[in-house]
Formats: sequence, C-alpha cells, structure tokens
Amino acid sequence: MVQPQKASPELRDARILVIDDEAQNVRSLTRLLTWAGYTTIRGVTESADAVRTFVEWEPDLLLLDLRMPGMDGFEVMEALSPLVPDGEYLPILVLTGDLDDTSRNRALTAGARDFLTKPFETTEVLLRIENLLETRHLHQRLRRQNVHLEHKVQERTRELADAQVEILYRLALAAEYRDDVTGQHAERVGVLSGMIAGVMDFAENDVDLIRRAAPLHDVGKIGVPDAILMKPGRLTEDELEVIRSHVDIGAQILSGGGFPLLRVAREIAASHHEQWSGRGYKGMVGEEIPIVGRIVAVADVYDVVTNERPYKAALSHGEAVRRIVVDRGQHFDPAVVDAFLEVVDRGLITKVGEMANRPGFLDLHEAEPAWPVALAH
Ligand SMILES: [Fe+2]
Repeated sequence: MVQPQKASPELRDARILVIDDEAQNVRSLTRLLTWAGYTTIRGVTESADAVRTFVEWEPDLLLLDLRMPGMDGFEVMEALSPLVPDGEYLPILVLTGDLDDTSRNRALTAGARDFLTKPFETTEVLLRIENLLETRHLHQRLRRQNVHLEHKVQERTRELADAQVEILYRLALAAEYRDDVTGQHAERVGVLSGMIAGVMDFAENDVDLIRRAAPLHDVGKIGVPDAILMKPGRLTEDELEVIRSHVDIGAQILSGGGFPLLRVAREIAASHHEQWSGRGYKGMVGEEIPIVGRIVAVADVYDVVTNERPYKAALSHGEAVRRIVVDRGQHFDPAVVDAFLEVVDRGLITKVGEMANRPGFLDLHEAEPAWPVALAH
C-alpha cells in the first residue's frame, strides 16, 4: 500500500479553502491536510459564504463540493470566475460522487482543474492537492519572472533612448559653443519653448517633449564652417545658403529615430526657420509649418536677439518683445506670439535663464518638471 505523502516545504503555507455543506467532510479534510503539514486551511459549509471568503482570503487552492443546497458547486465556480485575475492559475479541485460526462464537462468548463471522488482515498487526495499547488507555484514563479523581464526590457529601452538624446544634446552643445560661449542658448530655447507650449493647449506630456526637443533645434550647425558661422558683418548669398543648410543637416541627424522625442526634435530642426507669411527657408506658409517649429521660432529669435554673440550686440528685453509683436502674423504665428506675451505677462521670462541653468535639466526622468507645467490653464 502506498503511504500518504507529507506536503513539500515550499507548499505548506499555501492557503487552502474547503467548501462543502457537510461539516464532517470539511473536518476530515482539514484533519488530513493538517496531518500532511499544511498550515493555512479554512472551511466553509454555507456556499453563500464562499465568494466572500474567496475575495477576502485569496486562497491558492479550492476544494469544492458540487452538490450543495443554495448555490451548488457549479454556481460557485461561475461566481468566482470573473474574480480571478487574467492569466492567473487558480486550481479548483472538485469533490464529488460519481459524475456523468455532461457534469464533468460542465465542471471543467466552469473552472475545475481536477476531481476527487467520494469516498476519498487519503493518498490520492494529498497527491492531487500537492500537484495542483505545485502547478500554481510554478505558474506564479513564471509570472514573476515575466514581470521582471518586462521591467528589464523597459529599463534598457529607456536607457537607450536616454543615451541617444544625451549624445544628440551634447552634439548640439558642441555646435552651440562655437558662437555662444556660455553654451546656454540651446537650454534657454528649450525652457522658453516649453513655457509657450505650457500656456497653449498642449497636453502635459507634449509640453515636456517640446521642452526637451527644442534644445536640439540648431544641431545642424555642426555642419556649418566657423568662418561662416562666426563671420562678423554681412554674409554673401552663398554664405547664407550654407547657414540655411543647418536645418536640413539637423533634420538628417535626427531622422530615423523611433522615439517621440527624436521625431519632435527632427520636426523642430527642419522647421524652426519657417515664417508664418511664407518667407522662411523653405517657404512653408501658416499652419503648413509644424506647430512645434512655430513655437521654437519665437523662442529662438527672442533668445538670439536678447543675448550677445561675437558678431552682434544684444537687444533689451522690451525691444525684443516689441519686435516679436511687430512680426506677429508676419514672421510668427499670431497664436504663438499671444502665448509668448502671456509668458512675458506672467513674469516667467525672467526665470528662463535660471531654469536653463538648473542642474539636472537634462535628467529625463525627474520626479518634478523642471519648469512650471502647472501654469497651463
Ligand atoms: Fe537655427
């Protein structure tokens, strides 16, 4: 005769719920399970209590009688089925007398994983319980591993995206340092563009994308020779043509990226010298120009004219604002100018430099936005 087996140590703390209207059955099963080493067993003799106990206690295994007054075993399984989370393996071991094929199929469809025929044979009861618990245990382990792997993949993808942006950003800085000794122009344009988008009707995520992508607007200047980029005085038409090529060079450097940030950055690089009236580099008109390009156009011009460069003096804030207003509907999208004026009215413009200087400006996963997103209406 086969000796009944004790429970494996890793399964002993599994929560086992016995649902049977006959108290004697619940008692004898509980006794047997306790003898086998299981420590956490509950018995329910009123099937109406089964669902509540299930929800409160979250058992690992159900021993379920099929024939019960009130809700029978089938109805209990049907009531429990929507409560089991997707992808979870919940073993239900049905306790029954002889079952015809129809009832057996119905029980399997309702969620039963195995059957125990009364009167119970001790070895068989313990073996089936152990097998079902073992399956659940392995299932849970696999799920945990999958979740872990998924996190790892997400983490690596994010690191890769960060690395790309970081490299591009440094490239933009390298281009920037040549005609802006402070290397702050790119960051300030990012902050100001984000502020403008913040007072327009952009979703918070998009505002954040614009703020992070805008510093890359002039990355294509890396392809413009110093002699032309820093030439004091007037440029010839050929030289201007070379300067204008920085929008195409930038768009090429930023093209082909799968990340939204790169796509927005590419759009900005390609379109930030377009003019609302159509007199920009490519002659795009009005809303043909991507909105991100129209926003950066204002932020870029404001920052360029208010800061000194080796080849030009700086304008005052008031004079720069006046010129932007004069160009409303000409160089600039009127709606963007209005948003820019709101940024000015709110006194935010004085904070641009300070925010661009913040350490961690490039930190792509700050808990708090580096600038007041909440200012948006
Ligand atoms: Fe530019």
